[in-house]
Amino acid sequence: MGVLDRREDEEVWIADGRERRVVCGSKKEMSAGYKVAIVGATGAVGEEMLRVLERRKFPVSEVGLFASGRSAGRRMKFFGEEVEVRELRRDSLDGYDFALFSAGSGVSREYAPIVAKAGVVVVDNSSAFRMEPEVPLVVPEINGEDVFLHRGIIANPNCTTAITLMALAPLHWLFGLKRIFASSYQAVSGTGARAVEELREQVRAWVNGDEIRPRVYPHQIAFNVLPHVDSFLENGYTREEMKMQNEGRRILHLPGLVASVTCVRVPVFRAHSVAVTAQFERPPEIGCAVEALRKFPGVVVEDEPGEAKYPTPLSVAGQDECRVGRLRLDCALENAMSLWVVGDQLLKGAALNAVQILELLVNKSGGEDGGGVDLKEG
Ligand SMILES: NC(=O)c1ccc[n+]([C@@H]2O[C@H](COP(=O)([O-])OP(=O)(O)OC[C@H]3O[C@@H](n4cnc5c(N)ncnc54)[C@H](OP(=O)(O)O)[C@@H]3O)[C@@H](O)[C@H]2O)c1
Repeated sequence: MGVLDRREDEEVWIADGRERRVVCGSKKEMSAGYKVAIVGATGAVGEEMLRVLERRKFPVSEVGLFASGRSAGRRMKFFGEEVEVRELRRDSLDGYDFALFSAGSGVSREYAPIVAKAGVVVVDNSSAFRMEPEVPLVVPEINGEDVFLHRGIIANPNCTTAITLMALAPLHWLFGLKRIFASSYQAVSGTGARAVEELREQVRAWVNGDEIRPRVYPHQIAFNVLPHVDSFLENGYTREEMKMQNEGRRILHLPGLVASVTCVRVPVFRAHSVAVTAQFERPPEIGCAVEALRKFPGVVVEDEPGEAKYPTPLSVAGQDECRVGRLRLDCALENAMSLWVVGDQLLKGAALNAVQILELLVNKSGGEDGGGVDLKEG
């Protein structure tokens, strides 16, 4: 990759044989703070974005909260101050530095290009642009450098993919990842705020002996598991399941990666768990794997199965780190290792990852602590 030209705040590079315009972080003084807009602020991810910006003390001079007309006028707190939610319009984001989009693919497709054209850097949580070659798809700990190749829009990866790759990236760098076989256990908050309410209501109805009427999912989710996340494709997999391979290839820069995944919705409020078997080019070794995972930022190894110590969604909910346990050499597949990884999908799978991308852009290292039946997922 070589630099062709340098201007005040951008460089033109040749990458992958193509010219790319690289916005080199903002030149703005950090102390001045940035004007940050959250689109979809009232949603499960949007609310979390507000909390992560606060917690990591991202330098915000002004926060703008946007949603649909349904939520206009609602007030949300940011650093103790009440901020009014406004209805998103075409010119709503003029003058902002950054926009965090989390209002679904349709809204992103319609508004993000307009906003980016107006000079606002967009970090998009939806799947709208993840496979666009011009749009970097970034997990900061894994391919943070890709962020600087953006042309106005940066994509946040699918939540199950991001969490799984947090465990697999350090192992890939050691042993060379070839194939992934995985089954996910995905929390209802992955579908959004309505699904969280649906699980609560169904549990109450079950306890009271009332009739249960599913609205968000096609079947009862309380005390049940549904092998159905997102819509089905012709190959029998769901869109969600294919994201691990498609997005994994881009994030790991591994075009030959193949992944066979079954995504399952479980009656858990928060944090996705994934049982993974990964096959490598070279024979994996458990000691090296554990050491590499322990050193990897954003990952905690919790692996003392004899003491019943392994990650669970309840222990990981609300935590920034993804937790890995049950590491073992796979007994049925050559050069393979099996593991269990759990991550809070509203954080590492969405809000935290998005704010970490902003931090990369402003060269800040982090905070002090560190459809039909809409079965959409991140
Ligand atoms: N949930 C996760 O774990 C997760 C993880 C990764 C990625 N994602 C992705 O993040 C996005 C949001 O997910 P979510 O779970 O937060 O959904 P959600 O709880 O249903 O929230 C959706 C948000 O979008 C807003 N919205 C809907 N239509 C809009 C419109 N026409 N204009 C402006 N705002 C509109 C809603 O505002 P109102 O209050 O006005 O309805 C609400 O704030 C989705 O693309 C999802 O795939 C989610």
